[in-house]
Amino acid sequence: MNFTRRDFWKLGTSTAILISALGRQAAAQTAAGKDKTAAAQSPDERARITEQKMTDDERFSLLISIFGSVPSIGIPRDKRIPADVKNLSAGYTPGIRRLGIPALQSSDASMGVTNPGYRPYDKGATAFPASILVGASFNPQLVREGGGAIGREARTRGFNIMLAGGINLMRDVRNGRNYEYYSEDPWVSAVLGAAAVNGIQGEGVISTLKHFTLNCNETNRHWLDAIIDPDAHRETDLLAFQIAIEHSQPGSIMSGYNKVNGEYVSGNHHLLNEVLKGAWGYKGYVMSDWGAVPEWQYALKGLDQESGIQMDVKQWGAEAFTDRLRAAYKEGKLPKERLSDMVRRILRSVYAVGVDNWGPTSKVDMAKHNEIALEAARQGMVLLKNDGALPLVTDKPLKIAVIGGHAQEGVISGTGSGAVLPVGGFAGVVKIGGPGIMGAGRNLFLYPPSPLAELKKLLPKAELDFDPGYTPTEAALMAKRSDVVIAFGIRVEGEGFDNADLSLPWGQDALIDAVASANPNTIVVLETGNPVSMPWRDKVKAIIQAWYPGQAGGQAIAEILAGRVNPSGRLPITFPADLKQTPRPELAGLGTPWGTPVTIRYDEGAEVGYRWFAQKGEKPLYAFGHGLSYTSFAYADLSVGGGETITASFTVTNTGKRDGADVPQLYLTDAAGERRLRLLGFERVPLKPGESKRVTVTADPRLLARFDGKAGRWRIAEGTHRIAVGRSAEDSVLTGEANLTGRMFGV
Ligand code: GLC
Repeated sequence: MNFTRRDFWKLGTSTAILISALGRQAAAQTAAGKDKTAAAQSPDERARITEQKMTDDERFSLLISIFGSVPSIGIPRDKRIPADVKNLSAGYTPGIRRLGIPALQSSDASMGVTNPGYRPYDKGATAFPASILVGASFNPQLVREGGGAIGREARTRGFNIMLAGGINLMRDVRNGRNYEYYSEDPWVSAVLGAAAVNGIQGEGVISTLKHFTLNCNETNRHWLDAIIDPDAHRETDLLAFQIAIEHSQPGSIMSGYNKVNGEYVSGNHHLLNEVLKGAWGYKGYVMSDWGAVPEWQYALKGLDQESGIQMDVKQWGAEAFTDRLRAAYKEGKLPKERLSDMVRRILRSVYAVGVDNWGPTSKVDMAKHNEIALEAARQGMVLLKNDGALPLVTDKPLKIAVIGGHAQEGVISGTGSGAVLPVGGFAGVVKIGGPGIMGAGRNLFLYPPSPLAELKKLLPKAELDFDPGYTPTEAALMAKRSDVVIAFGIRVEGEGFDNADLSLPWGQDALIDAVASANPNTIVVLETGNPVSMPWRDKVKAIIQAWYPGQAGGQAIAEILAGRVNPSGRLPITFPADLKQTPRPELAGLGTPWGTPVTIRYDEGAEVGYRWFAQKGEKPLYAFGHGLSYTSFAYADLSVGGGETITASFTVTNTGKRDGADVPQLYLTDAAGERRLRLLGFERVPLKPGESKRVTVTADPRLLARFDGKAGRWRIAEGTHRIAVGRSAEDSVLTGEANLTGRMFGV
């Protein structure tokens, strides 16, 4: 074969490439195995090797993130964000190109990739339903799918950190951010929070779990001291984080604004160093919330990265982890080992999740993501009451009055950092406002399509009329001349605000009362982020809790009303009949000026939500786990095993005439003679008419135990433990018992 000059060149070049590749590999391996190929090294090894190569300037550069410009709260673009960075985000940390470390860009969050207005070219992301709705689906697989979609949409923007995984327990039904969380129960919060993190991180995007810990009210949150018995704290809010971390290994934990037992959580040595990193062995990094770091010493107490550093200037007058931390280092107050540890934790998460392995991707199937949002909305809405009014009769020319709730425009969302601009923009935005920094973003956001438009599609024979509910009298006149009334009740809730009570705003309770008095065949659809008191409940025939159902929520509401979809949601939070039934009828600090120090005593301890109602013998308006269906389900053949934990098996059967899904729940009711109600497990079971499924639940032993803070261990009592299989916390169907061996275990 005659070789031409070009052939020799090509052969020479490829040989050279081969030799250099072999050389690099050989060099890596000859470094006494220290520098095996990156793929073979653990994230911790890679982090150690990379960190050792860094200069101190490079180390400090990783310890902060810079907020994108937010004019509405007076934050201009920061010069430390390079001018060519177009995709502004919640947090920007410069990369270190020579070491292959990409810039770290974080965005919110659990309901989709948010855009607080600083990316005018960004035409919107999929607006998934609120986490509380997803909590009501009791479907971890669905949550994981949603997380995957959010991770993919983050990547199309070059965001490699999502500030998702809000798993604070719903200790207070007034908490404005409950819509961003999953449940009042630690097991539900942990399982669903972990599923969301796994979905996001499965796309190579780091996710947080937040807000560590006990950030359960918004009232004066920067000056809020949350008081709780430490052992009860371990059995609830901390247990949710502990299990979620075990099930998902989140790259980062976000510490909250509040204090716990007198110490700010973002600089809480006991919670960060002794519990999270010590007892639990968490290897990732702790980032602060935005404006939660008043002093550099938090670096010594377990905080690894100061987020949104401009917010600390606004909140506390200075950045903490820039000049002040460098000065402390120079004066020997910040040990080198700690500086290296902070950096290695960040790097190991970058490597563990694979953030260094990709660039922005344009591949994303928004139609598929809309389908995921729709399926979540369908599965998370809860049919609270149905005296035969639903599903609507669709083959008759019914006169249907649709009243209130901006139902002719769209469905509403929560507000604050979690609010998502949907693709194509909002159907409408009405300013609400309010005190404090979050007042600027407190708006009535409306997502199309509207329930009214979607009902028209599904009820072609019906005569649909709309009344805005502007006055009860006017609305009642339309109700009176209709066959059916569908009244919407909405309440905008969100970050920075706790609700003052359980009423619907803008006179909607009076409106619903008026239309139900005019026509008892009234169905109510609630779009709220929390329980409401429903003084009109006995006057209406049916109630659907639609929460904040996301961009496909209007369609899902219409499908459930028209019977195209069989509702299967179950309440992840107890609906009290009155605040007097709750641990804190009066909320300390509510209504005081922003900046007033407040102490909230969570004296219910581990008896959160349904556990409190059981302990006090109170009957709620609607119980945790409650939800009706258009079919019916039976439970039978319970068998229970004991020993180190409880395993229960039982058969669920669809005894009705249509497809449906049930969520049987397994509860501990008595632990060796001590009455104690604890959800031990659940499973969402879709069944066809007549179909049965055998369900088995094995309890995490910590749900059966008490935490012994003195020993630092969990303790299960010796003896008979009683359990129940139920449709809710107050509706047991099967009961059983098993003997457990008493033991101390875990940390
Ligand atoms: C907010 C929130 C937090 C969010 C962060 C970035 O104030 O508390 O959940 O991720 O700031 O927007």
